[in-house]
Amino acid sequence: MPRFPAQPQKGFCDYFPEVLRVFRHVERQIHRTAALFGYEEYDGPTLEPLEIYAAKSGEELVREQAYVVRDKGGRELALRPEMTPTLARMVAQVQKSVPRPIRWYSIPTCFRFERPQRGRVREFGQANVDILGTASSDAELEIFSFIRHFMENLGANRDQYRIRYSSRRYLDALLAQVVGVPADRTVEVRKMIDRRDKLAPAEFEKWVRETFPEGPVADRVLRLHEFADPAAPPLPDVPAAFRESEGYRELVEFHDRVRQTGLDGVAVFDPTIVRGLDYYTGIVYEVHDVGTENRRALFGGGRYDNLLELFSNEPMTGTGFGMGILTVKLFLETYGLLPADLSSPPRAGAVYVACLSAAQRSYAFAVVERLRGRGVPCELDLDFAKLGRQLQRAEAKGYARVAIVGEDEARQGQVTLKTLAGGAQETVGLDDLPARLSRPER
Ligand code: HAM
Repeated sequence: MPRFPAQPQKGFCDYFPEVLRVFRHVERQIHRTAALFGYEEYDGPTLEPLEIYAAKSGEELVREQAYVVRDKGGRELALRPEMTPTLARMVAQVQKSVPRPIRWYSIPTCFRFERPQRGRVREFGQANVDILGTASSDAELEIFSFIRHFMENLGANRDQYRIRYSSRRYLDALLAQVVGVPADRTVEVRKMIDRRDKLAPAEFEKWVRETFPEGPVADRVLRLHEFADPAAPPLPDVPAAFRESEGYRELVEFHDRVRQTGLDGVAVFDPTIVRGLDYYTGIVYEVHDVGTENRRALFGGGRYDNLLELFSNEPMTGTGFGMGILTVKLFLETYGLLPADLSSPPRAGAVYVACLSAAQRSYAFAVVERLRGRGVPCELDLDFAKLGRQLQRAEAKGYARVAIVGEDEARQGQVTLKTLAGGAQETVGLDDLPARLSRPER
């Protein structure tokens, strides 16, 4: 027999129970926050036609990152690299009947052929929270507030993360009227700015200077962060046309709304936020760790005005984010925010049942059946080892109490209940056992 590697493929991960406990902890906070804000859960297929990503998501996602399979009918399908086109497709089916705004969320598994690195793997869980059917920037403010509640529920404080936002329209005006990027190179520069987090600063600078060897464009691209406060007095060389542009006005207005709603401690304007996906049209945002340990975004999202037109004659705008469960796990680890009880399985109120010989196995089965019937979690040792060995196993698994079943106990319809810390023990009749276990151990 060939022996296969015990490790998964590069970029894919095996999730052992202790990791999954953390993922579920993060997901529970998404469900909890969604309930708090009135969002309903949806789900869609893992495989979708490749074209729906090719149409609006962008070349990088389709050409470089999509896992493509051909089905028996010869159709090209992608393992979903993201959820937003599926969401748009689903909303297109019900947009006439569902009251607006539509508030939906989902926690799909997505697939991308990315270079594996900290926080980036090839199969990942991504929470998606979106609000559709309203053009009001109050939708963005609600999404920011959702993020703040979610992060607070996880124990994070405002000094540990920032929601950084900008606007596609603002950036386009800035690039055209201030930086001096020719119209036919705007998309290229946007992509360049978006990649800055993926490169070391010196590498990024070298790339910018090589792309724009002549004129002041490279210097200005590298100084974009100087536009970090749109409401501050503009730099002396900023043309009036820029301040009168729709992009500038939209951003300043939004900036004010962020302040008015008290979100300004958490959300900050950052002109270098661009987002890699092509379908964004307005306000875009990312959540970043303020420290240096987790350089890549924890969340990314934005406003998409034209995505539904792929599936429907009736346009509908939306805004929302995707958040990597893994990236949030790394963030929580960085700041020591994981609850201690996640490090072992929850065993409160549970009992380990030790059975001393095969002759009592039927009685031991009756004991666990009775306990489970009364809602008491329990685990039965199955190999009749010496009692000391079974007690060790119970302790290693995190149990505080063991119900011991031997010959006498089986004959009298009892168990010997032992508390591992301290070793106190008592005899308890089977009928009384569930009630006894609901009281704290002695
Ligand atoms: P995205 O920026 O491509 O946006 O992904 C959002 C988040 O998903 C990232 O910030 C990261 O936390 C997580 N993520 C992305 N790629 C990986 C990976 N390879 N491994 C682990 N985590 C990853 C979108 O996907 C948009 N569809 C989000 C959206 C929803 N926009 C509007 N609504």
